[in-house]
Amino acid sequence: MDNVFAQVERNIDRLVENDVNWSACATPEQLRKARNGQLELMFGCDRAVPPEWYGDLRGKKVLCLAGAGGLQGPLLACAGAEVTVLDLSEKMLDKDREIAGREKLDMDIQHGNMCDLSRFDDESFDLVLNPPSLFYVPDVTPVFREVYRVLKKGGSFIMCSSNPIAYVCEYDAALGCYKAVNRMPYSSLDHGDQGDWVEYGHTMEQYIGGQITAGFVISGYLERQMEDITELYFFTKGDKR
Ligand SMILES: C[S@@+](CC[C@H](N)C(=O)[O-])C[C@H]1O[C@@H](n2cnc3c(N)ncnc32)[C@H](O)[C@@H]1O
Repeated sequence: MDNVFAQVERNIDRLVENDVNWSACATPEQLRKARNGQLELMFGCDRAVPPEWYGDLRGKKVLCLAGAGGLQGPLLACAGAEVTVLDLSEKMLDKDREIAGREKLDMDIQHGNMCDLSRFDDESFDLVLNPPSLFYVPDVTPVFREVYRVLKKGGSFIMCSSNPIAYVCEYDAALGCYKAVNRMPYSSLDHGDQGDWVEYGHTMEQYIGGQITAGFVISGYLERQMEDITELYFFTKGDKR
């Protein structure tokens, strides 16, 4: 595959056209609550980011990284943040454009790759929020390095991704249970049966150790197990001190 990012963009666009659940936009009720100081910031899974992780967002410069889809960006803007959304998928970004137009929200909506944040100056943001998406990049190192650079001192990076267990295990229909079959790190490109799908299973060492190596102090950690028991999401808060 020549360009994995171009392929990821095509894959995401196809899912958005088919109304995948994580492309659902913020509801009018969620937007109203965010305007009234009751922001509930959900990432792709059903667990909200603890409000104490981001505090009062009024006037804060927030980068919603790989976070298009008309959910987090509009909610943050309604909560008073100065929002920039950067995402690889124009179809996901169109959702933010649509809500921003309808709700008269001033959001900076940009098409781009989270591995290259060179368009942003050093220390531009108070907060970088990254919903589940790092499993679409082959290497998390440039993302953590760039996020650290664009964050102001005292700023935070909140991310959510999949625990490696999701990639180690596969369902064995004959046994009727999950079986650990794959070594980590995992890449769908090594599995002929995955077609054009591009997804990477990074290790916790890459996720947690990688942030620490980039300079972050990890000050928050949460997990959420979904109905599919191997779908285990984790959230981290990393601070630039
Ligand atoms: C599962 S969606 C997450 C957004 C969604 N609002 C949510 O709540 O989960 C993953 C997003 O990551 C984006 N993405 C994947 N790879 C990317 C990359 N290299 N750079 C920027 N965005 C990327 C996709 O286009 C998609 O919008």
